[in-house]
Amino acid sequence: MNFVDLFAGIGGIKLGFEKVGFKAVFSNDFDAYCKTTFDHNFSEIFHPQTELYLEDIAKVPSDIFPEFDLLTGGFPCQPFSIAGYRKGFTDKGRGDLFFEIIRILKDRKPKAFLLENVKNLKTHNEGKTLELIYNELTSIGYYVDDSVLNTMEYGNLPQNRERVYIVGFSSKEEFNKFHFPRKTPLKKTIYDCLEKNKVDDKYYYNDKPLYEKLKNDVRKRDTVYQWRRKYVRENKSNVCPTLTANMGTGGHNVPIILDDYGIRKLTPRECANFQGFPKEYMLPKIADSQLYKQIGNSVSISVIERIALSIKKAIEAV
Ligand SMILES: C[S@@+](CC[C@H](N)C(=O)[O-])C[C@H]1O[C@@H](n2cnc3c(N)ncnc32)[C@H](O)[C@@H]1O
Repeated sequence: MNFVDLFAGIGGIKLGFEKVGFKAVFSNDFDAYCKTTFDHNFSEIFHPQTELYLEDIAKVPSDIFPEFDLLTGGFPCQPFSIAGYRKGFTDKGRGDLFFEIIRILKDRKPKAFLLENVKNLKTHNEGKTLELIYNELTSIGYYVDDSVLNTMEYGNLPQNRERVYIVGFSSKEEFNKFHFPRKTPLKKTIYDCLEKNKVDDKYYYNDKPLYEKLKNDVRKRDTVYQWRRKYVRENKSNVCPTLTANMGTGGHNVPIILDDYGIRKLTPRECANFQGFPKEYMLPKIADSQLYKQIGNSVSISVIERIALSIKKAIEAV
């Protein structure tokens, strides 16, 4: 079954769906740095035929896509994020992007879709935002369900990442057969995601001004800390805190650990590991800040894979 992959970023959703046998026939994003990372992987290693189509989705006509059965999209989360500006659908050019999804669903009527967003989407504007989303999706003929899944509970990855997943089917029978995945035990530890050897000096704080602020708080080896602009936050459950798009840009949300050589931030590769990107996935030589942003914006591949499998089973059961 083919799918169209909107807001594709660096292809996290694509990786999860392709792992269970779906095939992306079209991927779109408007970020040129994402295209560098995406094409670095998909046009050379995995799928020579698919490059990221670089364009603002508002300018992509819905008849441009080849035949497809499924639509996926982790649409931009800023309008709904606590960390964002709480503007929701009034945030022109961002919240409005949801309506681009509606346009394409309406015009092309795929069998099913998966949308992904921050957990806060559920409570944004006292639930009215989600209600609007449901109204729009059901009014164009979809049966819709959603669930908040935490990566550490559903993806066997040691990251505390709660996201809302919205799934819809045009067939009621298929919808009735669909169930979100069940919890799965967390077997991986943070050590499985960390580099075994010393990483590049640039990631260490040892001689940097922040070191003085970090040294008293960052003391345990089995913990990923986070620098929150002014203070260190310790994650008590021995998992990595939510990786975010802004973790690479200076003083906010930076994930920090202590290793044999000192206190340092996680490398982009380690962040990719905490999202479940496979070893073969290559990070290109672009600015670290872009890589952190791309990985924080992406998805936990194993969670997506499990949802994709549930969608596949529902479709195959009918
Ligand atoms: C939350 S991220 C999704 C990341 C993706 N799921 C992944 O695995 O990498 C949202 C993406 O939407 C893209 N985006 C935002 N506005 C867009 C627009 N108007 N047209 C196309 N893409 C857009 C951003 O560049 C970003 O990569």
